[in-house]
Amino acid sequence: MSETERWNEMVRVEHAQSDSMRKEDPPADSWSNFAQQFRADPRRTDDPLVNYLRQLVTPGQVVLDVGAGGGRLALPLALEAKKVIAVEPSPSMCRVLREAASEFDVTNVEVIESSWLDAQVPQADLALCCHVLYVIQDIEAFVRKLEQHAKRILVIVYQAPPQSQIYPLWEPIHSVPRSPLPSLPEFLEVLTQLGVEPDIHVVHTERNRDFESLEVAKEQLARRLYVTPNSPEMARLEALLPDVLEENNGGFSIKHSVNLEPRVVSWQPGA
Ligand SMILES: C[S@@+](CC[C@H](N)C(=O)[O-])C[C@H]1O[C@@H](n2cnc3c(N)ncnc32)[C@H](O)[C@@H]1O
Repeated sequence: MSETERWNEMVRVEHAQSDSMRKEDPPADSWSNFAQQFRADPRRTDDPLVNYLRQLVTPGQVVLDVGAGGGRLALPLALEAKKVIAVEPSPSMCRVLREAASEFDVTNVEVIESSWLDAQVPQADLALCCHVLYVIQDIEAFVRKLEQHAKRILVIVYQAPPQSQIYPLWEPIHSVPRSPLPSLPEFLEVLTQLGVEPDIHVVHTERNRDFESLEVAKEQLARRLYVTPNSPEMARLEALLPDVLEENNGGFSIKHSVNLEPRVVSWQPGA
């Protein structure tokens, strides 16, 4: 199996496991309950990732933000660039992005409501793709299209899958280990197969609390673990919580979990 096939297979297997655990049909827009979390003040100065990206953008540049979400990065970068073209398939994310652009008076963002492989976009100076790739099932076509549309690519991924901190809870609750999504190590293997030698920059971030209270921890973990109320799995989750949570910054985090820090993987196609 090639590295791109292995990536696609990991995503397929993880999605199939999620589908088998889900007790109801997945929502049409899987981001509708979370989109507001991607709204942020574009003029904030305390975000290490934004501060790093700001210095890579110059005023004459057109920036593509692929999977822009609620504009957490698209809006601050629009304040530095000539224009940002935000490609985003989720209607709820697009709504948050448009509302935030209007609220914070950022007028040079164009929103294209589409998935990347279906999007019609002009050429850009820079293509940014942050925390999107983990769920992409045709990784080669996705990366090649990024390369076709920008002079420089910036892909941001964590060193481990976004929910890897809760993977150890799967076995005690569901009696099966979690099938992992791909992340940085697999992405670097994909790039090697595609003949790309990228630069990698680690953006160091403070370890924040994961949950503001025990109630929030239980509710969010239950949702991420596909645990429904009054089920044997919920009884097992409730019994586990005191052992797996620790107090952190006025809230709670998962004990012994690593701090997920963004890696900015960049290259210039054809260079
Ligand atoms: C975790 S969010 C990240 C949003 C934003 N990049 C950020 O870092 O705040 C992932 C986003 O990728 C988008 N996405 C998923 N599949 C996509 C695809 N095939 N093409 C473009 N965007 C996609 C989702 O709709 C979601 O908004």
